[in-house]
Amino acid sequence: MTKKALITGITGQDGAYLSRLLLDKGYEVHGIVRRVALEDPEHRLWRLRPILDKIVLHPGSLESYASLFSVVEKVKPDECYHLAAQSFVSYSFEDEFSTINTNINGTHYILSSIKNKAPECKFYFAASSEMFGQVKEVPQKETTPFHPRSPYGISKVAGFDLTRNYREAYGLFACNGILFNHESSMRGYEFVTRKISRGVAKIKAGLSKELRLGNLDAKRDWGFAADYCEAMYLMLQQDKPDDYVVATGQTHTVREFAELAFKHAGLNWKDYVKTDETLFRPAEVHELKGDCTKARKVLKWKPKVDFEGLVKMMVDADLKRAKA
Ligand code: NAP
Ligand code: GDD
Repeated sequence: MTKKALITGITGQDGAYLSRLLLDKGYEVHGIVRRVALEDPEHRLWRLRPILDKIVLHPGSLESYASLFSVVEKVKPDECYHLAAQSFVSYSFEDEFSTINTNINGTHYILSSIKNKAPECKFYFAASSEMFGQVKEVPQKETTPFHPRSPYGISKVAGFDLTRNYREAYGLFACNGILFNHESSMRGYEFVTRKISRGVAKIKAGLSKELRLGNLDAKRDWGFAADYCEAMYLMLQQDKPDDYVVATGQTHTVREFAELAFKHAGLNWKDYVKTDETLFRPAEVHELKGDCTKARKVLKWKPKVDFEGLVKMMVDADLKRAKA
């Protein structure tokens, strides 16, 4: 029988890759989108445009228990991938209340809806390396204690605990994917990798003269989004639910990302990048580096795209867009 998957946050970067992966595997793919997206598909559904006729979209929002409950009741999914969130860490410092309320309540509402209306449904929660924050060890693994450094990180720790508790208390097949940063040419414009690749393309096309960035010394463990969506899928194909770190195990600074991106376009980053103190965060996460031994062993997962491949892929895509 055809399996049904429900994706919250289907309009985002990961939703776009995951829905393609699940369609390829023969799933019936349903997604929850904010009503405004249905009214403005041209802009808000751009990542889904090529597959819009193959998926089913339902209006709903993380703020409304009733809306999530009714979609779960209607679809009765076999698998639910809960990706929706206010996901921009910087913004979470500006509006900590909405990030915390939306992210925590949204996760609680969807878990409760599944418990009540589709208790056999396998559930994936998009947890984050941002939960490690002020890291207690390097690299970080499933047993590393959390010390979140942003309202966003706090909301993800709560979502992680809710997911684990629904597993332990109510027997749901509920998994946490502790994913480190993953990027692509479908990444949102505000995240630093896409800001850089897009900035490079604009400069190359003569549309801009400089790129203003914040903390160039911050280190991240960057992988490719499509690889990470495969790990999400694999978690829900196991015999028992569990939590997994998904990462490359390699870290690079923002400076290194910028240097390579500009070089790939034949430019010297030093001629264009300006440091802007206003873009620094009130509390920074300095050294995220993941140890995904467990995912490699149990899920038989490993990243296929390395740092250099990722940077080049993103810059090439933005250069192409700038020319179009
Ligand atoms: P993204 O591109 O920012 O997508 C976020 C999605 O959440 C969008 O579809 C957005 O819909 C939806 N959303 C936000 N607020 C909502 C609300 N109130 N009601 C309904 N939908 C709402 O994020 P992503 O990079 O794909 O990441 C997916 C998930 O993984 C997020 O939970 C993120 O926190 C987590 N995560 C990401 C990474 C990473 O490096 N990418 C790493 C670890 C964890 P709209 O289009 O309507 O705004
Ligand atoms: N966004 C941004 N813009 N970040 C900058 C800039 C800039 O101009 N300059 C330097 N940075 C630094 C930030 O201070 C941070 O240390 C690093 O670049 C990465 O920032 P983002 O790309 O915004 O991502 P993030 O690591 O904060 O969060 C992403 O990854 C998390 C997983 O660790 C998001 O996708 C989260 O949703 C995700 O959970």
